[in-house]
Amino acid sequence: MPLAAHIDTLRDAHKTELGGARTEDLLEDARVLVGRELARVEDLLAGAVREGASPGPEAADHLLAAGGKRVRPMLALLAAEALGGITETTREVAMVSELIHLATLLHDDVVDDAPERRGRATAGRVYGNAVSVLGGDLLLTTALGRTQALGQPDLLASLITTLRALVDGELIQLRGRRGLVLSRESYEAIVEGKTASLFVWAARAGASSIAVDARDAAKHASYTDALGTFGRHLGLAFQIVDDLIDYVGSETGKSLYADLREGKATLPVIVAAERDPGLLEELQACARGEREGAEATLAARIVATGACDDVRARAEAETRAALAALDRLPPGRAVTLLAAVATRLSARLA
Ligand code: FPP
Ligand code: MG
Repeated sequence: MPLAAHIDTLRDAHKTELGGARTEDLLEDARVLVGRELARVEDLLAGAVREGASPGPEAADHLLAAGGKRVRPMLALLAAEALGGITETTREVAMVSELIHLATLLHDDVVDDAPERRGRATAGRVYGNAVSVLGGDLLLTTALGRTQALGQPDLLASLITTLRALVDGELIQLRGRRGLVLSRESYEAIVEGKTASLFVWAARAGASSIAVDARDAAKHASYTDALGTFGRHLGLAFQIVDDLIDYVGSETGKSLYADLREGKATLPVIVAAERDPGLLEELQACARGEREGAEATLAARIVATGACDDVRARAEAETRAALAALDRLPPGRAVTLLAAVATRLSARLA
């Protein structure tokens, strides 16, 4: 999505007052602050995806050019801005967070055998699955190299831990897909791993990207923790809303019922199966490919249980928890913008 359009989505979400400031003024600030900085990160991304042997970069660029919300870079940029100001290191960690995200998507679309992403054929469909995987590997190595070059060992160590969490989350999801095993505990582990972990890294890395006076180290550490908590709840809300969109749709352009076809035990399915005991067997047959064309009927049965209202409430609770974490930060324009981002992401279904 172009940057101006991105800021416009914030504008749409916040016609009212936010944090005492007039939203229109605030979003004008956002257009200047986030827009300019995101454009610089976008330039860094365009250069970084060109690294490596052809045809890997072509596959990576195919995904990059399709656009995206760039939520993780925005989180890193606003975290740094909230604590003092965006630096060269901030732009690098913002870029790295998106490189990692793009790498996971190039892999994920192979794992999910997905035909489309962001309204166009996936890199796997255009260049083949092998190129998609290796294109993702290129992004991953570039991201690790760029992080190492920053000379802050903690950033690299936490990134490696985050990568493990992403892979574990995806593996736990895969495990459940074989027989559509429904477990709330597994769902929590999946969303923490495959989504929240990278949001946490982006927010904390943004906080770590600014120079801090030794006298302020303890205060900065507590602000970094608050931003990490914000990122975690934002990530959870984001994934829960994403899982809901699969059933109730929205203006996002995402295809409906893909999770159902892929046998993903997401929260709407888990809650619905608790309420409609016969449903699980039908869903399992669907995941085995034995109910072709019945996805809409099954989705309607899920919606009829009222499960989506529960899931929406859970996403809203995560958004509230994210907003509460912001109270632990020094108030200011960047913090208000972080609140706007959280509210907007949660409102994707409104
Ligand atoms: C999208 O989920 C996928 C993720 C958020 C994470 C994918 C993680 C991996 C493939 C493992 C780690 C990979 C690397 C390179 C470290 P989704 O399938 O529910 O959403 P979608 O509808 O957007 O595909
Ligand atoms: Mg997928």
